[in-house]
Amino acid sequence: MNILSPSILAADFWQLGRQIEQVRQSGAQYLHIDVMDGIFVPSISFGMPVITSLRKRTDIFFDVHIMIQEPERYAAQFVKCGANMVTFHLEATEHIQETIDAIRQAGARVGISIKPGTPVEEVFPWLEQVDMVLVMTVEPGFGGQKYMDSCTDKIRRVRNAITEKGLRVDVEIDGGVTAENISVPLKAGANVIVAGSAVFGGDIPTNVQALIKQMQV
Ligand code: DX5
Ligand code: ZN
Repeated sequence: MNILSPSILAADFWQLGRQIEQVRQSGAQYLHIDVMDGIFVPSISFGMPVITSLRKRTDIFFDVHIMIQEPERYAAQFVKCGANMVTFHLEATEHIQETIDAIRQAGARVGISIKPGTPVEEVFPWLEQVDMVLVMTVEPGFGGQKYMDSCTDKIRRVRNAITEKGLRVDVEIDGGVTAENISVPLKAGANVIVAGSAVFGGDIPTNVQALIKQMQV
């Protein structure tokens, strides 16, 4: 099943609750929550108090993408705040096993992510242990960037590896998705699509419906 995961990084925070309700009612199954620490990526977004506060008001699936150095320090805390899935960066830690175990033991699904410059083969040893691989299609740190075509082949390669191993692992992509190019990562094998500006820029229900329509063909 294909899933749309709108990234609230592009939302109007004054109207955050209302906009989350809009994306949910328009058919988005996940909510993508980008946590940035200013060290792993050159920007700072928001963290635990925001997630805790949102969790009290909505039951939508929280797809939490942590762009944090040494994610093992905080992974379990994000689950306690309400994350249904925590996706960390392979490049951010030497303790990958520990991070996977911390998320799993805290009771959430586990995602592992790679930046555009990281060979996708680096996640292959972890495929048996994760629920999702997130292939970044922009340099993490900011919304509103252009989809990097050089990443499409990485989507294909990881999807093939998952199929060859007979696993059921989701492939998510994040960055630069628009209604015009969404078919590219889908055809390559992605089944969870993050979209920030393409959802929150303009009329939210119209945007969500246009993206979802393309995900059904
Ligand atoms: C970038 C974030 C993305 C971002 C996507 O570091 O991980 O989730 O919000 O934004 P768009 O869809 O605008 O490229
Ligand atoms: Zn993200």
